Amino acid sequence: MTAPDIAARKGGEPIVCLTAYTAPMAQLLDGACDLLLVGDSLGMVLHGMPNTVGVTMEMMILHAQAVMRGSSTAMVVVDMPFGSYEASHETAYANACRLMKETGAQAVKVESGPTVPQTIAYLTQRGVPVMGHVGLRPQAVLMDGAFKAKGKAPDERERILEEARATAGAGAFAVVVEGVAESLAREITAAIAPPTIGIGASPACDGQILVSEDMIGLFDWSPKFVRRYADVRADIARAVQQYADDVRTRRFPGEAETYFGKS
Ligand code: KIV
Repeated sequence: MTAPDIAARKGGEPIVCLTAYTAPMAQLLDGACDLLLVGDSLGMVLHGMPNTVGVTMEMMILHAQAVMRGSSTAMVVVDMPFGSYEASHETAYANACRLMKETGAQAVKVESGPTVPQTIAYLTQRGVPVMGHVGLRPQAVLMDGAFKAKGKAPDERERILEEARATAGAGAFAVVVEGVAESLAREITAAIAPPTIGIGASPACDGQILVSEDMIGLFDWSPKFVRRYADVRADIARAVQQYADDVRTRRFPGEAETYFGKS
């Protein structure tokens, strides 16, 4: 899958997207997904950070390399971390090129803001496919004070719609729409040419993305809009308890003859 393949899905079959941060998860998700996002949410999900602000280029590169090793058909998009694209178009371009060259991923994603559409135009004019991100912007959490739904007040709703239009006009091949009401998601989806990928934004978008670990139930908490399709947390707790019991009662295989066989 490439950026034009995803762009061509506007108004068609919904686009299936999930986050992936590691090779084994990418392998498991690849066949069922159109797009895998190496999201900077990895800072919170894998590294226990309070938000995504502390995520670095090096972290994104390491995880994107792992995801590229595990995927073969889905398009892989990498988040540009906070501080890697805001200062100047030139810095954004250098960092986007580094992400693509060092990982092999097909595109980058940036969160919107007043100066970001010009950056998207600068990148796309120079051959970097870019995915936009409007509505709730996790990298702006320290400005906002918390992760909050967006677009409830009329002026904020208008600003988000305008940002989505500017993001699309700048050449983004798709736009993530996060944490907005269905009516705004529907309006954005109707207003812009690239497909919208919703997260906590209703089925009114052209596709959906979730954080995989939320969707499989790894944590004891997940955002209200997430449907849990598995209870991996309970499975792991059960497995580790069984393992501990086996070790304590010396009830496990471990002879040299069984070492290389498959269980
Ligand atoms: O970082 C992330 O995982 C994202 C999402 C859209 C889920 O930006």
